[in-house]
Amino acid sequence: MEKIKMGIVGAGIWGETHAHIYSTCEHAAVVSVCDRNLEKANEFASKFGIKEVYQDYREMAAKSSCDAVAIVTPDYLHADIAIAFAEAKKHLLIEKPLATTREDVYRMMESIDRNGVRAMVDLHNRWSPPFHAVKNEIASGNYGKAVNAYIRLNDTKYVPTKMLSWAAKSSIIWFLGSHSLDTLNWLLDDVPEEVYCISHKGLLQSMGVDTDDVFLSTIQYKNGAIAQMENGWITPLGNSCINDFKFNIVLEKGKFDIDASSHNLVKMTSEERIITPDPMVSNHILGNGKGLLMRAYAALWISSSAVRNFMCLLRTLCAYLWHWYVFSSPPGTAVRFKCIFDKSGVPQGSGERGHEQLRR
Ligand SMILES: NC(=O)c1ccc[n+]([C@@H]2O[C@H](COP(=O)([O-])OP(=O)(O)OC[C@H]3O[C@@H](n4cnc5c(N)ncnc54)[C@H](O)[C@@H]3O)[C@@H](O)[C@H]2O)c1
Repeated sequence: MEKIKMGIVGAGIWGETHAHIYSTCEHAAVVSVCDRNLEKANEFASKFGIKEVYQDYREMAAKSSCDAVAIVTPDYLHADIAIAFAEAKKHLLIEKPLATTREDVYRMMESIDRNGVRAMVDLHNRWSPPFHAVKNEIASGNYGKAVNAYIRLNDTKYVPTKMLSWAAKSSIIWFLGSHSLDTLNWLLDDVPEEVYCISHKGLLQSMGVDTDDVFLSTIQYKNGAIAQMENGWITPLGNSCINDFKFNIVLEKGKFDIDASSHNLVKMTSEERIITPDPMVSNHILGNGKGLLMRAYAALWISSSAVRNFMCLLRTLCAYLWHWYVFSSPPGTAVRFKCIFDKSGVPQGSGERGHEQLRR
């Protein structure tokens, strides 16, 4: 059976997750990797048995035999790379956030449209079992309409100060706010009409990372529901999970709460600290990447042995995943993205600096 040939741009932490997943998929194979750090790309290639190694993504776009490419570079570097591969007629799985400026989103949309390639953003929370349980109950209608929701998705300081060398060129609103907003929109089945956001800056700056500490966003949805979103990069290092992820939603006749981190599903205690990893998101079984990431990526590749099938599957998934953002389109044409806060071409609401950042 023919395998879908994947390329990966970005041989970093998350690029490894992609490689593990595709290597586990029966009907996918990673054929090329690119990293601007050639040594890293070579190490990555030998670890995963990848034959084609590139240092320049433009060269990879021109020469690689891949059918589709996963773009796993820092947040602010997705746009030009996605466009280069779209121009080379490669399908795209782009890491979240799609981009960090509106101009980049429009440039990407134009290229994706014109070249008739498929595009999907990795917002894998839509495969999370607890969120699905809630989604199904809301959809049943038994609890009435959603009135208000709250989502908190924070990271410990480790992420901006140690894990990501490029944190100052992004922010927690891009890094985790993208997941949070997508989850809210999906569960509330709507898009925001108005957003007010404030942010705090200073703590990370004092630690040498010039980015905001935390964003608090209040969101009014078109259907009348309201939501609050908290995204911070300053949770203390002692937190038992790298994420601090909580969610609740109040409906006319019910309420649901999710504790998606530090839930003690697994608890590991050393002489120094307690750790509560989240095996639902990421884990390894017999050396293979599993968890909900696997579900998300596998849904893309499994049961598809040829690019034609892959395109159909991807279109269906894109329509499902992006819901209000993305219009499904006839076979052979491109997915069309809608900008989150710019449905009519005019930014909604008014606000201050944090608000500006959300609307960009
Ligand atoms: N979906 C999720 O839950 C999730 C989780 C973690 C990270 N991510 C996303 O994945 C992306 C990568 O994050 P990471 O943690 O792996 O970062 P990382 O810094 O570990 O890796 C990024 C890699 O990209 C390489 N790179 C940078 N510019 C390049 C270029 N022009 N061409 C080729 N390679 C280039 C770097 O050398 C580095 O190896 C980010 O957008 C991040 O937000 C998503």
